[in-house]
Amino acid sequence: MSFTVLGTGSKLPDTVVTNDDLATFLDTSDEWITTRTGIHRRHVLKQEKLIDLATVAAKNALKNSGVTADELDLILCSTIQGDYVSPAFACVVQKELGATCPAFDVNAGCSGFIYALDVADGYFARGRAKKVLIIAAEAMTRFTNWQDRSTCVLFGDGCGAVVLGEGDDLLSIKITAEGNFEALNIPHTQGNCPYTELDGKESVLHMDGQSVFKFAVSSICRDIKDVTQAAGLTLDDLDYMVLHQANYRIMESAARRLKISMDRVPSIIHETGNMSSACIPIVLDQLNRSGKLVNSRYIALAGFGSGFTTGACVLRCHKF
Ligand code: ACO
Repeated sequence: MSFTVLGTGSKLPDTVVTNDDLATFLDTSDEWITTRTGIHRRHVLKQEKLIDLATVAAKNALKNSGVTADELDLILCSTIQGDYVSPAFACVVQKELGATCPAFDVNAGCSGFIYALDVADGYFARGRAKKVLIIAAEAMTRFTNWQDRSTCVLFGDGCGAVVLGEGDDLLSIKITAEGNFEALNIPHTQGNCPYTELDGKESVLHMDGQSVFKFAVSSICRDIKDVTQAAGLTLDDLDYMVLHQANYRIMESAARRLKISMDRVPSIIHETGNMSSACIPIVLDQLNRSGKLVNSRYIALAGFGSGFTTGACVLRCHKF
C-alpha cells in the first residue's frame, strides 16, 4: 500500500518583482537574468505572512480532494523555515485549518517535498494514516542577500500542497544526501547569548552556483533513470518530468542528456524564480488544474538542494 494523490493546491504572494525592478538597485539586467536563468519575474512576500499563503494552498488542496481538515491523520510541512524557528510550521498551519492530527516539519532544502512524500509513504505502509496533508511553504526572499546580484535574482516565495489518501499511485521513490554544506548554506541567526563567541556571519544564502549547477544536472539524470527503472518503466513512458525549478538551463541540460523533449518538462520558473521545495507541488497543481494529467499515465518528479540532498519518484497520473 502506498498512496494516491487526492488533490492539489497552491498560492503565490500578490507582489510581483520583475528583473527590471531588480536592476533599479542592483548591477544587473533583464537580459543577463533571462539568458542565464530563464527567470523574468518572481512573487515576493510583502504584506502577507508565509502562513497566509500556506493556509490558502492547504485549503485549496483540501477542497480539490474533498477531504476535510478533521479527517487528516498527519500534516507534514516541507520548509527551510516557516514564520517561527519553533514551533514547527506544520503546527501553525494546523491551527489555521482547525485540524487535530500530529504535525511536523521536514527540512531537506529544495528536495523537501519528495522527502515529505517518502515520510508519508511510510505512514501509509504502516497503516498509521489514511489521509495526509503535505504543504511545501518557502519564503526564500527572507534568506537572500539583496546586495548579492549572483544569488538574490534567483529566488521567489510560494506554497504548494497535496492531500494524499490510501492507494497505489506511488510506483517508486528515492532520496539521497551527501553531507555537503559548503556549496550552499544559510547560517543560523546568532541570538544574543553573552557567552557565545559570534562569528558575525549574516543569516543569508551563500552559494557556489557552478558546483550546484553541475550537481543538479548529474543528480537529476541519475535519479530519474533510477526511479523510472524501479517503476518498471522506460523514459519514453513518462508523460511529464517535473523538476525543481532552480534554473531553466539546468532543466534543459538534464532533459537533453535524458533525451526528453522540453514539452514534457513543465516550467514555471520564468514567472516564479526558485521557490525551493514549493516548486514541484506548485507545478503539479498547475498541471492538475489545467487538465493536463487527465489523459496522462506516468509522471516523474525530481528535486535537488542544499545538503546536497536529492529526491525523485514516479507517480501514476490521473486528474487528482
Ligand atoms: N547580473 C549580472 N551579472 C551577474 C549577475 C547578475 N545577476 N550574477 C552574476 N553575474 C556576473 C558574475 O559576477 C560574473 O562576472 P565576471 O565574469 O566578471 O566575474 C559573470 O556574471 C558570470 O558569473 P557566473 O557565476 O559564472 O554565471 P553562471 O553562468 O554560472 O550563472 C548561476 C550563475 C545562474 C547562479 C548558475 O551558476 C546557476 O544557476 N547555478 C545553480 C544555482 C541553483 O540551482 N541554485 C539553487 C539550488 S538549491 C536551492 O534551490 C536552494
